[in-house]
Amino acid sequence: KSVVQRLWKGSASVDMLSPRLQKAVKDYMSTNKHGVSYRGRRHAQRNKKRLLCEIKRKAKVKTLDGEELPFSSLGWQKIVPALPLERLHGTGFSSCAVVTSAGAILHSGLGKEIDSHDAVLRFNSAPTKGYERDVGNKTTIRIINSQILANPSHHFNSSSLYKNMTLVAWDPAPYAVNLHKWYKNPDYNLFTPYMKYRKKFPAQPFYILHPRFIWQLWDVIQANTMEDIQPNPPSSGFIGILLMMWLCDEVDVYEYIPSLRQTDLCHYHERYYDAACTLGAYHPLLYEKILIQRIKHGSESDLRMKGKVTLPGFRTMPC
Ligand code: C5P
Repeated sequence: KSVVQRLWKGSASVDMLSPRLQKAVKDYMSTNKHGVSYRGRRHAQRNKKRLLCEIKRKAKVKTLDGEELPFSSLGWQKIVPALPLERLHGTGFSSCAVVTSAGAILHSGLGKEIDSHDAVLRFNSAPTKGYERDVGNKTTIRIINSQILANPSHHFNSSSLYKNMTLVAWDPAPYAVNLHKWYKNPDYNLFTPYMKYRKKFPAQPFYILHPRFIWQLWDVIQANTMEDIQPNPPSSGFIGILLMMWLCDEVDVYEYIPSLRQTDLCHYHERYYDAACTLGAYHPLLYEKILIQRIKHGSESDLRMKGKVTLPGFRTMPC
């Protein structure tokens, strides 16, 4: 059976990846670029309810508020938005859609269904123009990694992809979350472009995720996986899903766990093929997906036909 079919059943594992991907995973393990050392426990068999409550307790969404060094000494209290992200949208949204950029969403015809949600989250440079039928055209929040800000090829300051929405950027700090080290040596320098953009467009809500949130998410994935996962941050997809679980009563995620349209086409908007986009190499993506598969509800046919899983918002949980 394919990895994807095993994913549907919740029984996938990395030894099912191609030798090339397994080799890549091993290399990332030995490099351990972010200095990850996991000291927590592992438990493989938590039931859905306990698992959700554990995630809610251990991975609280947090953005940089400018109150901590070195940011406080650089005047960031005045640079970050006055309202924290958790309060920006009042009491939050009732229904939300998370739209991954997977090639499998092509020819899905999901656009209308996606746009019918109160809020829609998209990733990085994924466009809607020209793909409305399949991905919709509403964007409430966009999660962007630091490469989008740092790499001139994305035209971050001028592209309409990043206008009229809330922006949430992230970059992996060292696992120990030393903000001084991070500020001096981010993966890609997002700090200067962030400050510039904030000054140029002060009315647009734009946040940087606190690296503590990123690594708490990683800890939760490792805590619920018996194998050692890649010592690298979770994918933007996982970060976005968990962010929306904090902001919404219910979250519909599209083409994270792939539908029958599963393909090696990396992104719906690019002609580039690589199974690593769906199964992971750098990111512990397969383990992320196994975890989401364990906490989801929603029908098997929605999964097969729409690549759709539904997750509860944390606020609605009685824990
Ligand atoms: O590639 P990018 O990170 O911009 O894509 C956004 C997210 O969508 C990824 O972080 C990943 O979680 C998800 N994705 C996926 N399968 C793909 C492409 C993206 O699950 N083929």
